[in-house]
Amino acid sequence: MRVPDGSARFRLSCLVVFAAAFTFPALARAETARAAWLRYAPIAGPALESLDAHLPVTVVALDGSVVIKTAQQEMMRGVRGMLGRTLRKESHLPAESAIILATFASLRDATPAVRPPALVEDGYWIKTLAVRGHPSILIAAPSDRGVLYGVFALLRRIALGHEITALDVRAVPYAPMRWVNQWDNLDGSIERGYGGRSIFFEDGYVINDLSRAGEYARLLASVGINGCTVNNVNADPRVISAEFLPQLARIAARFRPWGVRLSVAVDFSSPEVLGHLPTFDPLDPRVIVWWKQKFDEIYRVIPDLAGVVVKADSEGRLGPSAYGRTHADAANVIARALAPHGGLVFYRAFVYNHHLDWRNLKNDRARAAYDNFHPLDGRFDANVVIQIKNGPIDFQVREPVSPLFAGLRKTNQAIELQITQEYTGQQRHLCFLVPMWKQVLDFDLHADGPGTPVKALVAGKTFHRPVGGFVGVANLGRDDNWLGADLAMANLYGFGRLAWNPDLSAREIATEWTLLTLGSAPRVVSTVTAMLLDSWHIYESYTGPLGAGTLTDILGSHYGPAIESSERNGWGQWHRADAHGIGMDRTVATGTGFIGQYPPAVAGMYESLATCPDNLLLFMHHVPYTYRLHSGETVIQYIYDSHYRGASRAAGLVRQWQTLRGSIDGERYARVLHRLTYQAGAAIVWRDAVCNWFLRTSGIPDARGRAGHFPGRFEAEAMGLQGYKVVGVRPWETASGGKAVECRGTRAPCSATLRFTGKPGWYDLNVQYFDQNNGVSHFKLFVGSRLVDSWAADDTLPSTLPDGSSSTRRTLTRIALRPGDAIRIEGSPGGKELAPLDYLEIHPARGP
Ligand code: GCU
Repeated sequence: MRVPDGSARFRLSCLVVFAAAFTFPALARAETARAAWLRYAPIAGPALESLDAHLPVTVVALDGSVVIKTAQQEMMRGVRGMLGRTLRKESHLPAESAIILATFASLRDATPAVRPPALVEDGYWIKTLAVRGHPSILIAAPSDRGVLYGVFALLRRIALGHEITALDVRAVPYAPMRWVNQWDNLDGSIERGYGGRSIFFEDGYVINDLSRAGEYARLLASVGINGCTVNNVNADPRVISAEFLPQLARIAARFRPWGVRLSVAVDFSSPEVLGHLPTFDPLDPRVIVWWKQKFDEIYRVIPDLAGVVVKADSEGRLGPSAYGRTHADAANVIARALAPHGGLVFYRAFVYNHHLDWRNLKNDRARAAYDNFHPLDGRFDANVVIQIKNGPIDFQVREPVSPLFAGLRKTNQAIELQITQEYTGQQRHLCFLVPMWKQVLDFDLHADGPGTPVKALVAGKTFHRPVGGFVGVANLGRDDNWLGADLAMANLYGFGRLAWNPDLSAREIATEWTLLTLGSAPRVVSTVTAMLLDSWHIYESYTGPLGAGTLTDILGSHYGPAIESSERNGWGQWHRADAHGIGMDRTVATGTGFIGQYPPAVAGMYESLATCPDNLLLFMHHVPYTYRLHSGETVIQYIYDSHYRGASRAAGLVRQWQTLRGSIDGERYARVLHRLTYQAGAAIVWRDAVCNWFLRTSGIPDARGRAGHFPGRFEAEAMGLQGYKVVGVRPWETASGGKAVECRGTRAPCSATLRFTGKPGWYDLNVQYFDQNNGVSHFKLFVGSRLVDSWAADDTLPSTLPDGSSSTRRTLTRIALRPGDAIRIEGSPGGKELAPLDYLEIHPARGP
């Protein structure tokens, strides 16, 4: 039987116990986050004995290609790490048992008796069998890349504790194209990147030391990703200039051993900007020739370029509309120049007008992809792939799937998912996206009656398209842990695993990743897996619930709360909340008609309030705050409840992680704890901003009396101020009481003092302040004359102002207070950050 991946069948519970019994605790060795899930941690005990007994001592590469040699090296590296032994390296079949790496062609030459199965490109076969009488493990594939994937799969099996004694794994990828996009700029910055600067570029050039590019390609290959676009979709035309091509070729050379093909994002106006033509009209003969000559030139330097990505007529990028041409004209002119070289054009469907008149209630950005591309179905060349974001807006915490997936039957397509957590917490918040992606990929669009899930549509299975697949916007950077947060790497791993086999469950993926990355202690695996699986719902519940969109600052950093930033401007029509109700009416009957873009079965479900799911209600309908959900709660009460629940569950993540102290190496433990602690505070910022805004706007109180009431909280502006000045914060909901204090005078430090009037005892103190990225203020907290704590506001949260993105907290636990104590916070500005303070909270200490 052919299965997408043998691992789909394993029993996780047994696996955890089995692996745990036989590997060293992670603490036994120093860890580097850079190794990610390819740590190859040492195995011990009976598992090691069994592997010692069954794993051959030689690894043979029957082909001499660079990819197969890489596969051989990787096999040796993995076995060295996990078993502590060095395999013998051969290039011919030895007279002993061996791990044999071979393409089907070379296998036929070496052992004609072995009949490989029929597999598609990139598939592999792992088989235990006797070769010339010697028990061997064969890793064979139609292509050398498949052999490399087979090696990674075998090593993963070993690391996960699966048996390797009777293998017959025939694995094939679900879709041919499994790419990542990096949004790296040539100056070294990364658009929506949160893990440091580019591993490819700096100061307008490709960097000299490309070792991280090679390491990245290794990570990608280990989960079956076969293409990487290295520069921003908002492309600098210079990337395909003659002077730049040899530099790109150096990146391609780093990728090649890992079977990862380079691609680049190109600017549609390149013929004019780079070629100095008077036009970039896709139908102009001079433009047609320019693109052709340009790709002939590129392929002379990079013969295996995978293709290009194009963002045109979107967010200020130039496109075919400048000449009244269509997106098909635009994609095809590039596709025809690429075709002789076998290259692909990934043409993005993220096309919309960001100057729409928001006063017209029929205008709707969500309609744009379908309206633009559905009428062109069938007019794209065979090597064009339309790259479609998972939802119709832009990577929000919850969106319905894009109706365009069902709207292209005669055109190749790929789904674009976002690994970098742009709208989902920017890696500062834990948000494991695999459960969301699973819902998207499994969603049945009824494109041709039932049974047409998004995954099948994008893989080209439904309408029998030759190419298609998965694209993940990754944006890894130079930070040691690649994405800026250790746990965020589960998203890259999960993307790759799903692109290979979207039928894997989120739990399987989370468990695998945790085992490989953090070790196999059962408590670590069960705790981290649970945290990962809960995290998206937690994030959703304290940000934008019920399909309202993330409720973030969409005009700026896309990070903190700013409820109205999406309203009354051309950038988007999101929630239209006012005093009476909330939600975008996208119905056919009375709204924008967006719902009508879905096939009838799906449209019918969304159009009717009776069948529209609660979690997308506000995406599809405008309802009064008192509208009752299927769950029975009113919309407004749900908003309050979900935010309080979400913030409390975010605090729970900290406690869950703390149970792992001592089970995870100290550095990674501390880094993750720091992030989760920050997140718990940020979740309160979100909770309060959203609840306060809806409380004021709707005028409907929280039935449970929480919103607008903050026991133990003392506003900085109400404290005794010396030097500090009261300032209004914008938007108002992002500071408690809408105000903060800033040290604006010349006589720093400034201070804010509170006289404690409670009972004597132990207390926890939260100091809520703003940590901007344009300065480093210093704070000190005194009780009476005693200095209790001091800290620097030196984080780089994404804001230059006091607001919902920069608001953060310092928590002091178990401080002894008695009535009459003066609690004084001293703030000293640094740079443009004026030691801004929001409030102080005093709560009886929790626990011992
Ligand atoms: C989002 C993102 C932009 C990006 C764009 C795109 O809007 O904020 O930075 O350029 O998507 O996908 O093209």
